[in-house]
Amino acid sequence: MQKFRFLTAGESHGKALTAIIEGVPAGFSIDEDFINEELKRRQSGYGRGGRMKIETDRVEITSGVRFGKTLGSPITLVIKNKDFENWQKIMSSSADDLTDEKSFTTCRPGHADYAGSVKYGHQDLRNILERSSARKTAIEVAVGAVAKLILKEFGITADSRVLQIGNSQSDFNAEIDKAREEGITLGGRFEVVFKNLPVGLGSYVHYDRKLDGKIAQMVMSIPAVKSVSIGDGEDAHRLSGREFHDEMFLENGKIVRKTNHAGGLEGGMTNGEDLIVRANMKPIPTMRSPLNTVDLANLTETTAHFERSDVCAVEACAVIAEARIACAIVDEFLLKFGGDSLEEMQTNSI
Ligand SMILES: Cc1cc2nc3c(=O)[nH]c(=O)nc-3n(C[C@H](O)[C@H](O)[C@H](O)COP(=O)(O)O)c2cc1C
Repeated sequence: MQKFRFLTAGESHGKALTAIIEGVPAGFSIDEDFINEELKRRQSGYGRGGRMKIETDRVEITSGVRFGKTLGSPITLVIKNKDFENWQKIMSSSADDLTDEKSFTTCRPGHADYAGSVKYGHQDLRNILERSSARKTAIEVAVGAVAKLILKEFGITADSRVLQIGNSQSDFNAEIDKAREEGITLGGRFEVVFKNLPVGLGSYVHYDRKLDGKIAQMVMSIPAVKSVSIGDGEDAHRLSGREFHDEMFLENGKIVRKTNHAGGLEGGMTNGEDLIVRANMKPIPTMRSPLNTVDLANLTETTAHFERSDVCAVEACAVIAEARIACAIVDEFLLKFGGDSLEEMQTNSI
């Protein structure tokens, strides 16, 4: 990220999640309802746990926007954690409130618990769970919603869908119900599509300017995502050159393609076709029927800590991926057509 930069802060059961976005030019319309709709999409999907019922996330914009338009100054977004009222003492920043309530020392395999405790020297694994949790993706979705509103001014749209849950490609809810009954969890596969992108976002000139690499980083770093592919990338190894590559034709003097196996990227640049990104999410690590693990407090074998948890969150993961990819694309857009205002960008992008 060079032009559209953001940092987020906040713990899962802390007071709030916060983001500061730098680099948004002046004059873009920011529709708070749209951001809240995106937050709702992240909270939806069959298979989510109890927390989604407690919290309806809503964004508060505390800087950078006046009368619905961006000012060009940093934009601050805040999402209050409604559950904080039940966690005030446990998540207190004051040494006076020290308590071991909700502390735990039994590592959850598949989580950051073990490596995090070794790395940061925490004995209470709560100190790791609170930030490594996917809760922080709520504020990332809010940032992504701002990115989408910028892209919307240029006619660019985003969408996603679930392709597979566990072994099923259609009857997702039945698959999730079955897993819930058995006390286990599921992962899955999803697809994100961006439409109406101009040709030439990204570049082939350096490894770190290729847009496929930037997108992969954004999607791969979503908690629980274990593989990312562009277009038919996951099948690329078994297709011949004739089957994989998208031939070019002329129709009324315009270059057209009849296929899009490349998923809209060639040489690390958008080629004018739809951008198609697919990713695989691993099964949720926390399970009602818990995994074997080790208690770090006394080095004995036991079973993993269980805390209210999702059975499956692939639909939400797809919404997060949309948001992350939107940030990467806006960054490229600002690099290519940048200016200090919407008007300047419009002139530059003609
Ligand atoms: C939307 C979403 C919801 C998640 N919900 C849970 C959950 O309820 N319980 C859980 O154990 N893991 C959940 N995860 C997965 C963990 O956050 C993730 O596996 C963990 O942080 C380790 O990261 P890694 O899998 O990328 O190594 C969720 C992930 C996402 C994207």
